[in-house]
Amino acid sequence: MLLPLNPDELLSTTRAVRKRLDLTRPVERNVLEDCLRLAQQAPTASYSQNWHFVVVTDAERRAGLAELWRRGGAAYLERRREAAREAGGQMARIVDAVLYLAEHLHEVPVHVIPCVEGRTEGAETPLQASRWASILPAAWSFCLAARSRGLGTVITSFHLLHEREAAELLGIPYDEVMQAALIPCAYTLGTEFRPGRRAPLDSMVHWDAW
Ligand SMILES: Cc1cc2nc3c(=O)[nH]c(=O)nc-3n(C[C@H](O)[C@H](O)[C@H](O)COP(=O)(O)O)c2cc1C
Repeated sequence: MLLPLNPDELLSTTRAVRKRLDLTRPVERNVLEDCLRLAQQAPTASYSQNWHFVVVTDAERRAGLAELWRRGGAAYLERRREAAREAGGQMARIVDAVLYLAEHLHEVPVHVIPCVEGRTEGAETPLQASRWASILPAAWSFCLAARSRGLGTVITSFHLLHEREAAELLGIPYDEVMQAALIPCAYTLGTEFRPGRRAPLDSMVHWDAW
């Protein structure tokens, strides 16, 4: 069932959901397939849609991924925890939510890993840009489609510090395929989400020239 959200509401309330994921409710395969079919409509620089989505529901594999994610995030969390305690406010809330997700990631019923064919290590910037931009719009479309079905997601990158181990765990051919993110996915606890706080437009928009 779709939530009654108009396009602007969908775009402004698809948040990074960490603490409000329902860890007890399974997500139906057909709902995930609907989201993935919509993700397939995203643009790509390749004629052949060079992307893949690894959808992980197996508990043991999710536990393995969660362990890699925690290891990858440890340095970030160490650095940010102190700063957040001092700064308070939004940063402290995000760090608190990241810590919560670190503790519970293995319990999130679905982990989605968007992947793209062709590694770009050492490649020139235009190739890097077009390769990443060939998968991340699809990943975001997945998140939007999930939100409109009552699911929460958050695009994360911590596990990429251990991408090779994740590839081994999931049988992804590392030499040919790059993982772009790990997206935990579950029904949300409540469906109301507010737009995030953002800087005023004029602090980041440049008309005609920088
Ligand atoms: C490329 C990318 C990588 C991210 N990596 C992580 C991550 O590793 N862990 C995490 O908890 N959140 C990660 N995030 C989520 C951001 O922290 C999130 O966008 C931020 O908390 C703001 O949330 P909001 O858009 O709901 O305001 C990532 C987001 C993006 C776009």
